[in-house]
Amino acid sequence: MTKETQQVEAIKNGSVIDHIPANVGIKVLKLFKMHKTNQRVTIGLNLPSSALGAKDLIKIENVFISADQANQLALYAPNATVNQIENYEVVKKLTLSLPERINTIFKCPNSNCITHNEPVDSSFTVIAKQEDIHLKCKYCEKVFSREIVTERT
Ligand code: CTP
Ligand code: ZN
Repeated sequence: MTKETQQVEAIKNGSVIDHIPANVGIKVLKLFKMHKTNQRVTIGLNLPSSALGAKDLIKIENVFISADQANQLALYAPNATVNQIENYEVVKKLTLSLPERINTIFKCPNSNCITHNEPVDSSFTVIAKQEDIHLKCKYCEKVFSREIVTERT
């Protein structure tokens, strides 16, 4: 089953997040708490990729990532592919689209925002005009550029 091109050992069942930009893999892993599982997680960093030059890759055994969950990754890795593996075969390949909302992952950059003092989860509406992505906080209603929100978390 192992292909000559397989750079990280194939898995029997689970999810493979492929085509993550190099240097973003660790961030994605931690932000989405993918390492906080009892399942085996294997990662590949700076793997050669014809499309990206270099890429990161995360394999999580026995965990199946839903389309909604996969889309939460789109702010960091819009071109990532989430593959579902069953009995060593790729049975589903999800490409990501920006979600309408993003909850819990990011902190609101507004230090006066109520989310910093109350036990509530953050929640942003995603506003996308072509390449230009902004996030609007549900609580303070301020709008921030994608970079401001993601770099602070
Ligand atoms: N993979 C795996 N275990 C398997 C099957 C596939 O870890 N049993 C991984 C492959 O290594 C690859 C990803 O799942 O990183 C997708 O597999 P596949 O669709 O076969 O690879 P490509 O055709 O290269 O995918 P793409 O077209 O998305 O680049
Ligand atoms: Zn806010």
